[in-house]
Amino acid sequence: MYFRTMDLVTGGTGLVGSHVLYQLALKKERIVAIYRSTSNRDNVLRVFNYFTDAQTAQALYTKIIWRVADITTVPELDNAFEGVTHVYHCAAVVSFDSSDYHLMRKVNIEGTANMVNIALSKNIKKFVHISSIATIEKKAGSDQITENNEWNNEKNNYGYAISKYGAEMEVWRAGQEGLNIAIVNPGVIFGSGFWQQGPNALIDKVYRGFKFYTKGVTGFVTANDVARAMLLLMDSAVTNERYILVNKNQSFQEMMHLFAKNLHTKAPRFHAKPWLTAIIWRLDAVKSFLTKKPTVISKHSAKVSHNKYCYDSSKIKQFGFKFSDFETEIKTICTNYLNDKNKI
Ligand SMILES: NC(=O)c1ccc[n+]([C@@H]2O[C@H](COP(=O)([O-])OP(=O)(O)OC[C@H]3O[C@@H](n4cnc5c(N)ncnc54)[C@H](OP(=O)(O)O)[C@@H]3O)[C@@H](O)[C@H]2O)c1
Repeated sequence: MYFRTMDLVTGGTGLVGSHVLYQLALKKERIVAIYRSTSNRDNVLRVFNYFTDAQTAQALYTKIIWRVADITTVPELDNAFEGVTHVYHCAAVVSFDSSDYHLMRKVNIEGTANMVNIALSKNIKKFVHISSIATIEKKAGSDQITENNEWNNEKNNYGYAISKYGAEMEVWRAGQEGLNIAIVNPGVIFGSGFWQQGPNALIDKVYRGFKFYTKGVTGFVTANDVARAMLLLMDSAVTNERYILVNKNQSFQEMMHLFAKNLHTKAPRFHAKPWLTAIIWRLDAVKSFLTKKPTVISKHSAKVSHNKYCYDSSKIKQFGFKFSDFETEIKTICTNYLNDKNKI
């Protein structure tokens, strides 16, 4: 069957991409998503089940046409673009572990270059890319950070941020070469599912009685809202613009308290000052070296947990996007975690 438009989602087997797939499945007849032989596609159906009954979730899930492709492998990607008119690019390696630096450069920068180059060659109508607040220059203090803050090479020199900045530059370059692009720069993302990876691991930690908090401040948003904003931008006339997506600026302490309240457990009680997290990441590095397991807290994540940065989402709000009620969304996410916790 021929479809006038066809959306392609990369990173669909991850937290944000699976939420994008769900919202697209509500609107479209067919959607293309890429996966790798190592991907776990069961997670995607699990995410659909958080939002609807099992039968509807299954029906929506069958709308996805799965195509094998690694974004670093051009011939596979080329095949995946067959019949595609619109692209949501969510795939990336998300890590604060310095040993992932070269992998992040390869997947996040080269992979994104492959994506936009193929999109240009196939006259893709619109390309929505998910970047990060990591690519925006930080200004400590009361000033809110906006989309106009440029990248500062001196200050943002950690692997993930460098790779996401490089990826964003590839998308801007393609925009200059004629690709119709829009970019979102979300803050720290929480969402249902994928409980032990990325920021969601904090929910699991609070539930399991983690005792320490920090007073660092950053911007938080949910996967639901990120997906909704991406669909809104895709359907709009917006081109060559980027939008910060932060629903709430608050401290890690406040965030962990909100989790604890909704998980019906005790909130972390001890303030971990910078000297303590500095010891912890060093001990963790030694443990990782001896056990050959990935670090749990890296030098960078230890540092980030003390920074105080506030982000301004006025631009996306002025465009007409309405964030969900943050407390309600976190409550739902925590309820889903509690229902799943025995299966983790
Ligand atoms: N999590 C956050 O707090 C946050 C904040 C701001 C921005 N972002 C951005 O949001 C996007 C999605 O993040 P997420 O939290 O959803 O990450 P995630 O859950 O780790 O998902 C990453 C996705 O990328 C895919 N992927 C990784 N390497 C790939 C490759 N070489 N080829 C094809 N696919 C590949 C993964 O596929 P497999 O399942 O096969 O591994 C997975 O589907 C990323 O671009 C990230 O930088 C995330």
